[in-house]
Amino acid sequence: MRRKFLALAIVITIFGVGCSKTDGDGNASGVTTINENDLGLRKGDIFTEDEVSGVEAKYSSAAPGTSSRLDRSFTNAPPMIPHEIQDMLPITIKNNQCISCHSRESAKEMKASMPNLTPIPDTHYMDLRSKDQKDLGHLAGARFNCVQCHAPQADVKPLVENNFAPDFQDGSEKHGSNLKDTINVGKDTLKK
Ligand code: HEC
Ligand code: HEC
Repeated sequence: MRRKFLALAIVITIFGVGCSKTDGDGNASGVTTINENDLGLRKGDIFTEDEVSGVEAKYSSAAPGTSSRLDRSFTNAPPMIPHEIQDMLPITIKNNQCISCHSRESAKEMKASMPNLTPIPDTHYMDLRSKDQKDLGHLAGARFNCVQCHAPQADVKPLVENNFAPDFQDGSEKHGSNLKDTINVGKDTLKK
């Protein structure tokens, strides 16, 4: 008798759920539906390209020496490029204008006329792929294409808001690197 009751209860439950109210599109009532024109980031008819136009990205036109450095995105993030680089591209193995200002040697000489010029850090001169991570005495080959990691910033409205806020341990991380001193921290725990 008890079993029969249980079976009946299950049948009623399934039937009840199956018959719950739905709107015209077959969605359960109370559920918000999104218009297909609002689905994409471009907000418009997603079945035609007729009204699609690219956003004009305005990059900085400030010459090196006249721009201001940008805050790091997080500790030891590659700093963004604050100045114009249009005329310096493409970077090739034979023609790398970035090095002509930023290399250790040049930065020392040019510091007087460009006080904010940051020299390429020691990490870029080290062979981080070898065990001893020795200083090569020259820029590591893996680092010659600066724009592989450092990017200029365009003045465009982000399509999706980014709420990330870096939690710097101290103010120096906002504008500087400490990777050379911290890169091996915790590495010895791997041996155990
Ligand atoms: C004529 C010298 C010069 C050249 C060439 C140059 N830079 Fe710069 N760069 C500077 C100066 C000076 C600054 C500091 C900001 C300023 O004063 O405009 C800077 C800032 C930067 C920064 C930010 C550093 C920080 O600490 O936040 C990056 C990254 C950078 N440059 C990368 C590049 C790359 C990549 C190239 C090549 C495509 C390049 N630079 C070419 C002079 C130069
Ligand atoms: C493989 C990625 C990568 C490449 C390629 C690269 N960088 Fe960096 N760069 C970084 C990262 C990550 C940092 C921050 C951590 C550090 O200092 O090593 C950085 C930091 C810097 C800084 C700031 C140093 C400081 O003391 O604040 C400068 C200037 C810089 N890079 C210039 C360059 C230039 C010029 C080139 C090309 C010759 C270049 N980088 C190539 C990843 C890269």
